Amino acid sequence: MLDEPPNVSDAPTAGAALPRLGDDHARERVEIELLLEGIFRVYGFDFRSYALASIRRRLLHRLREEGLGTLSGLQERVLHDPDCMERLLLDLTVNVTAMFRDPTFYLAFRENVVPLLRTYPFARIWHAGCSSGEEVYSMAILLQEEGLYDSTRIYATDINEVMLRRAKEGIYPLASMQEYTRNYLKAGGKRSFSEYYTAKYDAALFDPSLTRNVVFSQHNLVTDHSFSEFHVILCRNVMIYFDRKLQTRVHDLLYESLVMFGVLGLGNKETLRFTQHEAKYDKLDARERLYRKVT
Ligand SMILES: C[S@@+](CC[C@H](N)C(=O)[O-])C[C@H]1O[C@@H](n2cnc3c(N)ncnc32)[C@H](O)[C@@H]1O
Repeated sequence: MLDEPPNVSDAPTAGAALPRLGDDHARERVEIELLLEGIFRVYGFDFRSYALASIRRRLLHRLREEGLGTLSGLQERVLHDPDCMERLLLDLTVNVTAMFRDPTFYLAFRENVVPLLRTYPFARIWHAGCSSGEEVYSMAILLQEEGLYDSTRIYATDINEVMLRRAKEGIYPLASMQEYTRNYLKAGGKRSFSEYYTAKYDAALFDPSLTRNVVFSQHNLVTDHSFSEFHVILCRNVMIYFDRKLQTRVHDLLYESLVMFGVLGLGNKETLRFTQHEAKYDKLDARERLYRKVT
């Protein structure tokens, strides 16, 4: 099945249509849809509108890892075994991240958003889809250096609780620190990056004071509602995995959750161009995907 040509066992039963070119793909699509529907009904995670090509790749990866032959087999295991669901969830929610990822984004943030934040007595920042928290620690460091940390509350959310647990711990591989130090400096970092963590064996333990003003919580952008009004929302490298319709829905949610003149930051492969939300925002820095709500 799947990537292989049809064989005898794939032959349709009496009365069914004869096999046609593309039937394997049609069958595979049905299996994927049924699996995603089952996951939604049993666990409440809604992946039905994620981009199909990426979902398919991840399901096939899990299928191989579990030593299974069919997506229907994977469906059976996932629906009856929550541990298998947790493994699949880690595959489906691509969690790649880094500290000061795309450093020029943070540089632009310092230059264009920090002055706006200074005009508020108190600001709320939402990291939607924060993964294991590297983005959150980066923001906390930046705000501390700009003297804004104590007048800010950061809300860090993700669909994936395993990632949130890691985010709360703030322990990252020591081996990543060279890359993160380079990013930090390119992002306009003002101190020595090593001041923010303690090295222990092969781990870097980030200073707990960085999460003093951070609230970590599970939130699903597809099924949950807005939970506050924010002055800044960063939703970077999350919607890239959603289909058009879902992107529009999530943009509605982000728009509703921003105060007037609040700032939206997206990932560098994401844009508001050609979306129905484009007219609702001014470009603060289009290259760095920073936008300001204006209507
Ligand atoms: C590629 S990571 C991006 C992390 C970080 N924002 C960055 O840019 O480095 C995408 C994150 O989105 C999260 N995610 C995927 N679907 C989500 C949803 N429906 N609601 C909330 N978070 C979601 C994933 O769990 C993952 O941690």
